[in-house]
This record gives sequence, C-alpha cells and structure tokens, in this order.
Amino acid sequence: MAYKNIKEIFDHNERWIEEQLAADPEYFVKLSKRQKPRYLFIGCSDSRVSTEAVMFAKPGDVFIHRNIANVVANNDLNMLSVINYAVNHIKVKHLVVCGHYGCGGVKTAITASDEGLLNPWLRNIRDVYRLHKDELNSIQSINERYDRLVELNVIEQCINLIKTRDVQKALLEKRISIHGWVFDMRTGKLIDLKFNTKKVAREILDIYNIF
Ligand code: CO
Repeated sequence: MAYKNIKEIFDHNERWIEEQLAADPEYFVKLSKRQKPRYLFIGCSDSRVSTEAVMFAKPGDVFIHRNIANVVANNDLNMLSVINYAVNHIKVKHLVVCGHYGCGGVKTAITASDEGLLNPWLRNIRDVYRLHKDELNSIQSINERYDRLVELNVIEQCINLIKTRDVQKALLEKRISIHGWVFDMRTGKLIDLKFNTKKVAREILDIYNIF
C-alpha cells in the first residue's frame, strides 16, 4: 500500500484496529501479553522483502532483524544483541537468514564503486565473493552470477551465525537450527537453500570453537 501522506497511515491504523476487534474483541489483550515467537528472521532492509509477506506471518510470530543485504557481521553489536536476546531470552527454535534475488546491496558490493560510508558494510559481501571467486567467475551470465552470490551470501551469513558464542552454545544444547532462504520477488517464491546446520558446524568448529 503506497501512502500519499502521513495522515493516511494513521487513518489506516484506525481501520486496522476496527478490523482486528471485529474479528476478535480480545485481540489486543492477547497481543500485549508476552511475545513467544519461534523464529528469528534476519533479512534485507529492502522494502519489497516484508517478513510478514514472505512468511505469511502475523504480529507475534517472528522476531525480526533487517539490514542491508542480510549480513551477520562479527562486530555488529546490534546484530549480536538481537541474536543474544532471541536465542537466550525468547528462546526461538529457528534462526533464518533470508536473502533475495535482485538485492541492490549484493550488486553494489561486487561493482567497482565508491559508496562512501557503505564501503565497510559492503566489504562483508566482497569477502563472500572472494571466498567463492572461482565458482562465481565461471558463471557467464552476469544476472545468474548475481543470483548465485545472493545464495552464497545467505549461506556465509548462516555460517557467521555459527561463529557467534550464543549460537554455538544453543547448538551444543541442541535447541536451535539455522536455515538459509532466498525470496524470489520475480515469482513470490520462497526458496530453502537447505543449509545443513550440523554438517557445517562439524566442518568449521575445529577453527571457530569457543567452548
Ligand atoms: Co537486498
């Protein structure tokens, strides 16, 4: 819905309240009780990748963190705090990293361009490109190469989750799993990259093991 002005947003809010109460007079009483979502969703800030639309979710279903190109950066206190709260306090069961084809952040990251303040952030994605340079450079079509980098970026960010203390601890306690998804906005389809949490953890924990 494209709002022409701020007033329309508040008008819509009033209509939304009426609709919720018509369907369930106790809706806001229930909503204001403690949240207990089972999913942490880490997605791109792109306005077209609405978590609620992608997951068909309602308020209370998903704990959400979004940034440019769904990056899990080791020194991002915001991301680390969200992971800590979701895993240790809300005790979500599933951690989802969801990228999307046509991601502007991913495209910019592999283009020779000075993006000023964004350079260090986009560098995270250039690192993914370097790790998978041979595979990516063997893809002739530039669009297919972008698509594959979107997928590889999701997988690397899933791996970055395993590198964090809170996720490692929860994996040892066998109470979470990690999922890598891509949203294809050309078709609306949500694609599961079938990230194998146990297998990847086994492969990398000899290096990244904290405990
Ligand atoms: Co994006």
